[in-house]
Amino acid sequence: MSDHGKAKLQIDGKDLELPVTVGSEGEVGVDISRLRPETGAITLDPSLANTGACESAITYIDGEKGILRYRGYDISDLAMHASFPEVCHLLIYGRLPTRPEREGFRTRLTRHSLVHEDMKKFFEGFPPSAHPMVILSAMIASLSAFYPEEDTEEEIDLNIIRLLAKAKTLAAFSYKKSIGQPFIYPRNDRTYLENFLLMMFAVPAEPYDVDQTVRSALNKLLILHADHEQNCSTTTVRTVGSGGASLFASISAGVSALWGPLHGGANQAVIEMLEQIRQDGSDFQKYVDLTKSKDSDFKLMGFGHRVYKNFDPRARILKEAADEVLDKLGVDDPLLEIAKQLEEVALADSYFVERKLYPNVDFYSGVLYRAMGIPTDMFTVMFALGRLPGWIAHWLEQRNAPGARIIRPRQIYTGETARPWEPLDER
Ligand code: SDX
Repeated sequence: MSDHGKAKLQIDGKDLELPVTVGSEGEVGVDISRLRPETGAITLDPSLANTGACESAITYIDGEKGILRYRGYDISDLAMHASFPEVCHLLIYGRLPTRPEREGFRTRLTRHSLVHEDMKKFFEGFPPSAHPMVILSAMIASLSAFYPEEDTEEEIDLNIIRLLAKAKTLAAFSYKKSIGQPFIYPRNDRTYLENFLLMMFAVPAEPYDVDQTVRSALNKLLILHADHEQNCSTTTVRTVGSGGASLFASISAGVSALWGPLHGGANQAVIEMLEQIRQDGSDFQKYVDLTKSKDSDFKLMGFGHRVYKNFDPRARILKEAADEVLDKLGVDDPLLEIAKQLEEVALADSYFVERKLYPNVDFYSGVLYRAMGIPTDMFTVMFALGRLPGWIAHWLEQRNAPGARIIRPRQIYTGETARPWEPLDER
């Protein structure tokens, strides 16, 4: 990073010069590391909307221009040309693999797809109604019980491969468990995506042919979800990892953080919202007005974003893909039309325009998952499977950052000042 001048701060009559850092895309950050030691004051930014927690070389987002790049490659190029395993390699190792590297990486992912047979017993402990996100988070943490903590670079890399390979198996097993069907094992003659579809939808009694339209749509969906810089769940992974927690423990925390309806859980909430609007006679204006009412906490799920203030490039790609995939699959899902009409009504309304609220990645993804036969409560699991390489890349970057320290923010205390103990009968 090239330093770029100084920032001057005056507090209690004291002047403080703070170094300024400029990133490779021109972003400017004021380094406040010396603020508290030299003034006793801290900054306060409750949702960290104006605070950089780290320098990172993984993903770049320009929220005003709708730019998203993984290691410098534009998301539209990757969605069009790359395979998900190639994007995993790019995010984790910093570059696209050569042909031999790509084949070797794929082989490792295939050969580590099985989970220890004892892990199957864990599924028996969950009720059939268990949400697959709670199972995924628990199972990923449980991998720590079967594979030792990482010490050497080789052990770390092997656990990365294990996690990428086994997470899709655990996800598919949780689906089979929820519908009472037997687990389907991965095959070594199938690719990463083909194995996931096989484990999700094959049944023992008959052969299973992978639909190439579904495989291609899944590839695009996972790539579009693969990373998004310092979002809520990635910040969680970096924070947990900064304490020295294992890869599996840190990623398990990220899965739990993603589940919230304001974050990755929004894709399930979008479909539930579209279904509600459909059952309510597709009265779009009613729901747009509900959003604006001060007496209602209703939000248009799948709309708005902390960073994108123009458009989410992923939403644009998914909207086009939804039309194409549903047409190819011969699926006529009324929810797609409802989503498009809702978007049109909302974007014509000053409330949304003034607040720069546009469809985000979660707005159209659910329609695609539905068309592929993936049940609604698995949508956020799909988001997690996509985000895995991003979380892993950030866990590694945090762990290997020069001078990396445990992440431990300060606070401004607003509670009671010191007061004496009060015996029980005097309270
Ligand atoms: C993801 O960070 C990432 O990168 C996340 C993600 C990733 O790839 O990791 O992109 C994935 O999480 C996408 C977001 C999925 N969530 C949703 O779709 C849930 C609905 N959206 C909102 O809850 C909200 O827009 C957030 C959480 C996405 C962003 O919240 P912010 O930045 O804190 O914005 P805000 O809540 O302060 O909203 C600003 C204003 C408020 O109105 P006023 O107080 O100014 O009157 O916009 C309003 C909000 O009420 N608003 C909405 C709205 N989103 C914001 N009003 C109606 N519907 C919405 N969806």
